[in-house]
Order: sequence, then C-alpha cells, then structure tokens
Amino acid sequence: MNMHKIIDRQERFDPRTSETRAQLLSLADVSDFLISPDSKLPIQFDGHSLKNASESFGMERACPVLMPHRCMRYIQDNRLIVPLDYTLDAFDQYLLISSIKQNQVDINLEVDDEWYQKHSFNAQKILSEFKGTVLDVGCGSPQVSRGLFTPDVKYFGIDPTFSALDEFHLIAMAEFLPIKDASLDGIVFSTSLDHVFDYHRALDEAYRVLKPGGRLFVASLVWTESAELYNDSVHFHHFREDELMLALKRFSIGEVARYNWKNNKHRYGVYISGEK
Ligand SMILES: C[S@@+](CC[C@H](N)C(=O)[O-])C[C@H]1O[C@@H](n2cnc3c(N)ncnc32)[C@H](O)[C@@H]1O
Repeated sequence: MNMHKIIDRQERFDPRTSETRAQLLSLADVSDFLISPDSKLPIQFDGHSLKNASESFGMERACPVLMPHRCMRYIQDNRLIVPLDYTLDAFDQYLLISSIKQNQVDINLEVDDEWYQKHSFNAQKILSEFKGTVLDVGCGSPQVSRGLFTPDVKYFGIDPTFSALDEFHLIAMAEFLPIKDASLDGIVFSTSLDHVFDYHRALDEAYRVLKPGGRLFVASLVWTESAELYNDSVHFHHFREDELMLALKRFSIGEVARYNWKNNKHRYGVYISGEK
C-alpha cells in the first residue's frame, strides 16, 4: 500500500508554446565534450565524421551517431533491425526488443494529451531552476523538450531512435554516454529512465558526466503492488519507488514529489531532484 501523498494537480503546460526555451547547442558547441561510447577516448569532428586514431562515427542528417559498436551492425535505413537468429546474448536481445519498441512508438506522441501537459507543468517547475550545460537523456523531440527549460540553459539531448531528427541531438544510448567525465551542470531523465534497460549503468554514466554539485532530475512512473504487464505497452521497467530511490543512492536527493497519473491505481508519477 502506498503511504505517500499523491498530488492531483490540474495545471497544464504545452512545451511547444512555451515563451522561454533552452538554447540549443550545436555540434561545434558540444564537440569538446565528446568521447567514443566504447573506448571513452576523445573524438574530433573532421567535417564529415567524428573520429580518433582507431574509431570513426558517422552522421545522420547532421546528428552524430554515437552508438556503441555492438549496435552499428544492426542499423539499416535509419532503423535498428535485429534479425532473430543474431541474438547471441542479452545485449542483442535488448536491442531486438528496442527495435520493436522503436518501430511501434512515436516520439512525444502524447504532446496534445492532457496528462502529458500536466506532466510537463510539473517537470517545468523543477527544470526552471536548472542552469548551465544540461543533457536531456531520452530527449525525444528536442524542439518540444527544450520548451521545459529557461534560456539560461545550454541544452543538448541524446536519444537512440532515428525518428527524432527535428533538431540537433546525439543519437546515442544512456548506458554508453559519449560525454567526457565531469563536463555537465545538469542531466535530465524526463520519463525516459524506465525505457532504459540497464538503468543502473545509465545512472552510473549520469554520475560520471556530471560536475561535482551538478544537478539531476528524474521524472518516472512508479508502480504500486497492483502492477502487471497487461497494463502497459512500452516500459522496460515497472519501478517500485524504493527500487528507484535505491538506484539513485550515489546522488544526494532533494525534493521528491508524487503526482496522479491518469487516475490510475497501479502507478503514479514521481519527480526527483538530486545532486552529485
Ligand atoms: C516516453 S519518451 C520521453 C521523451 C521525452 N523525454 C519527453 O519527456 O517527452 C522515452 C524516450 O526514451 C528514449 N530511450 C529509450 N531507450 C533509451 C536508451 N537506452 N537511452 C536513451 N534514451 C532511450 C526513447 O527513444 C524515447 O524517446
């Protein structure tokens, strides 16, 4: 039984119509931060690709593809395509399920939905306090998502899907951040951590790339005892709240707020602020 107070907020916010939005960083702006997702060695842009002495990463419509090399063989025609008989280990199986999810779910699909706009209101209140260089992990459409921030923020996003190509971002995975250690002022998982299979590794990566004192924001659904797969179509994880808080133990946690989600009994939204 959940004993926490769950707030039923009615205010809505549409990030597409926001009067303020974060400044979108370009490839030139972020290139000093970039490293290989595999070797973690620095990479430089030569006008066509990002490379170092032994590795090279391509571009997709002006967005660098900085996926780990194990993914590259599965990328065809802007899509992750994993043949069933190639699934040699758990990582390939993860990519197979990711490819199914990516082919079925549209990015920021719900932006007209009242519940998405209530979520945006809650997130934006916390994110308006972020400053400096901020990475949005699982950004979806940067054009939409950066409407949650103020112009004080220098914003860039990562997302592994190829369908969110509206504005510059890195095509990359949370578990293999192609970002140098201690380079960011903030990192955000806005309803994305429960889509990331190895979320412990993603949080280790988040910790690594934050500067000391850098800020973390996680908005996620958490599930109550009545969780079951029949009630869901897209999430890898049905976090229980204590499980999520345990995964965040390396961060010092500040505010934790809980919000009603679609009047569901089996889950609610949790909004967590933390610091490295
Ligand atoms: C529900 S959407 C959230 C999009 C956006 N942040 C928002 O608030 O509207 C979840 C996002 O997580 C992304 N995602 C899935 N697996 C990921 C991974 N391993 N690393 C980073 N992002 C991932 C998906 O592609 C999708 O864009």
